[in-house]
Amino acid sequence: MPIFVDDKTRYFHLNAGRSSYIFQAIEEGYVAHWYWGPRLAPEWPADRRALLVSRPFAPVTSPDYDWLSLDTVPQEYPGWGRGDYRVTAIRVRNAQGNDVTDLTYVGHDVLPGWSCPQLLPHVAGQSQTVGGPQTLAVRVQDRVTKLAVTLYYSIDDDLSVVVRWAHLENQGTERLRIEQAWSASVDLPYGRWHWLQLPGHWGRERHLEWGELLTGTHVVESIRGTSSHQAHPFLALTEGAPSETHGAVYAMHLIYSGNFMAVAHKDPYGSVRMGMGLHPAFAWTLEPGESLDTPQVVLAYAGQGLEELSQTFHTLYRTRLGVNPWRDRLRPIVLNSWEAMYFQVNHRDMVELARVAADVGIELVVVDDGWFDGRTDDRRALGDWRSHPEKFPRGIKAVVDDIHELGLQCGVWVEPEMVSRDSDLYRRHPGWCLGVPERPLSEGRHQLVLDLTNSAVIEWIIDWLTALLRDTGIDYVKWDMNRHLSEVGSRGWPAHRQAEVAHRYVLGLYQILETVTQRFPHVLFEGCSGGGGRFDPGILYYMPQIWTSDNSDAIDRLAIQYGTSLLYPPVAMTAHVSAVPNHQHRRVTPLATRGWVAFSANLGYELDLRQLTARERDAIRRQIQWYKRLRPLVQFGTFYRLANPAIDQSGAWMFVDDRCQEALVVWVNQLAEVAGPVRWLRLRGLRPDVGYRVVDVSDFGAGNDQGIWGGDRLMGQGLPWSFDQDFQAKAWHLVAIPDKEARGHE
Ligand code: DGJ
Repeated sequence: MPIFVDDKTRYFHLNAGRSSYIFQAIEEGYVAHWYWGPRLAPEWPADRRALLVSRPFAPVTSPDYDWLSLDTVPQEYPGWGRGDYRVTAIRVRNAQGNDVTDLTYVGHDVLPGWSCPQLLPHVAGQSQTVGGPQTLAVRVQDRVTKLAVTLYYSIDDDLSVVVRWAHLENQGTERLRIEQAWSASVDLPYGRWHWLQLPGHWGRERHLEWGELLTGTHVVESIRGTSSHQAHPFLALTEGAPSETHGAVYAMHLIYSGNFMAVAHKDPYGSVRMGMGLHPAFAWTLEPGESLDTPQVVLAYAGQGLEELSQTFHTLYRTRLGVNPWRDRLRPIVLNSWEAMYFQVNHRDMVELARVAADVGIELVVVDDGWFDGRTDDRRALGDWRSHPEKFPRGIKAVVDDIHELGLQCGVWVEPEMVSRDSDLYRRHPGWCLGVPERPLSEGRHQLVLDLTNSAVIEWIIDWLTALLRDTGIDYVKWDMNRHLSEVGSRGWPAHRQAEVAHRYVLGLYQILETVTQRFPHVLFEGCSGGGGRFDPGILYYMPQIWTSDNSDAIDRLAIQYGTSLLYPPVAMTAHVSAVPNHQHRRVTPLATRGWVAFSANLGYELDLRQLTARERDAIRRQIQWYKRLRPLVQFGTFYRLANPAIDQSGAWMFVDDRCQEALVVWVNQLAEVAGPVRWLRLRGLRPDVGYRVVDVSDFGAGNDQGIWGGDRLMGQGLPWSFDQDFQAKAWHLVAIPDKEARGHE
């Protein structure tokens, strides 16, 4: 069994994949953290005093244990105000106005299955392991305030992850105000730690960044109301500088789409604490009997670098995040109207475009922004979700029908969380927006944010979305969100609950998504927020693919997709071939390069195919034929990063199938060098004892056979190429040859 408990010593040992996680309720009931790292056999060490050192100026909570200070003991869920001066996990203000929060052990339970916080997305789904997932629930309590906290630890023994969250319940008789409640905290031993994060901005999301953790606090946070383009709810610590293939990595990733904070703190003695959860800008009132669940955070350990970490996250998210049937299905190749027509979409052009799309092999056409009444630009009409009478005189259903007639599926764009001032909805319900009294409302992209904490608003959104999906036969929805929150308040809540609004907004969003995605399980939902501004596991739970970035330039996409792949499998990232000069910054790249970059994720197109030459259309037809052939490999194979475009002159990656019989290698150059060197790209994930037929498919043609290469040679020496053009792409398709064929004799 993966959870071992010694009741006598109150010692807990969790084995998850290649990792173990160990803690214990020690003297006075404090829950001390002992270990997180490579898998260990369960045993009960006799003496762990060496782990507890007393320090000058470190208060002790009891004279009976003058060697035990909360300032030095490693802990599972550290409280506030009793002498632990590091960052803490929970802070609760009581009716007397003080915020001392002191949690000690009460009991524990071992439960079957995953544990799931109420109203929040979570890890679920079928496990492959015998016995399946298990949960350890450890109950702690503040004996003064009677705040009861259950710390949940869920594991499945085939993955090196521990999924943690906390359930807080006021079991006392007085009102409590939760001012901070992380999902998890963990203390790591002294070491030369580096932090690793994924910052960005609009058009430049999730770029890998790292640095040495020095004394003090390293913070990753969003207070924008969404996980945001700027920050990602992820933080890892690596032993030494991060590497793809070696060194231990300890990561936290929050399954949540709103404000969050992640912290790595190194105290002056060199001990390190890492924690993550709801941003402390929030506060939540718990009346007696009330409770609050924190979002889940995934703690992932990898002993062999970022590649192992990514493969753990990819497997977890591909197989156990969400219950949407689309999670496990191959995804259709999409043509999106946005960069083709912007707001000028109309019935005739959409059907014409769809006809060309069908001819090149596209499978689904999306009518992006601009299809609804009054929407001529981004200044108006959000909220008026009925078809535009001039652009779609027979309604959106007629265009869906006509596109279906062509043998294609059809999708539409929506932005349900927003309202334009110039809209019937706003004129009817000006009070349905987030806002605070006496302050003007800031606009973002000329729009206001609907109050998703208001049940009337939630009901209205569910109703119109239900009607739209029920009455039109739409197969796909692109769910956009084009601004961050400001003046975060709601007229529906009393003063002492206004600090709950940002979190309640996210809960309202999840309620809508839960209802609508369950009602229409056949509809494929794609998340979007001005590109990848809300690309997080909370959204992925409901929408199994997300628009990675509004930046569709193939060269900028190298680093965006590279960073995103740290946590998300390629099938989760949508990527489109767009026109040149590129609409974001006018760069001109070859069609094949745009093809290979988009091909390396969830492929789509976003350009006016009617404007292309017959030759270009033919090239796209060949891209699509190859994608259809290799789609299972790309969407559900194992992904390896080979060269980091932010550091190297090129970006490279590869996909390998489960049995190591087939692989695809893609290598994209940035700027060419005059008389540059021959470079060797070392491959990964192949079988060293197997021979592979290597076919150069860079031009998406029939392929140029390069003969048979041993897996050992491909991984040890690599594939050679000397790039002589800017933005050139190389791609090789590898197929294992049957055993009887000799290696290296062609
Ligand atoms: C932002 C999205 O990221 C784009 O793809 C497009 O859908 C526009 N919004 C439409 O307004």
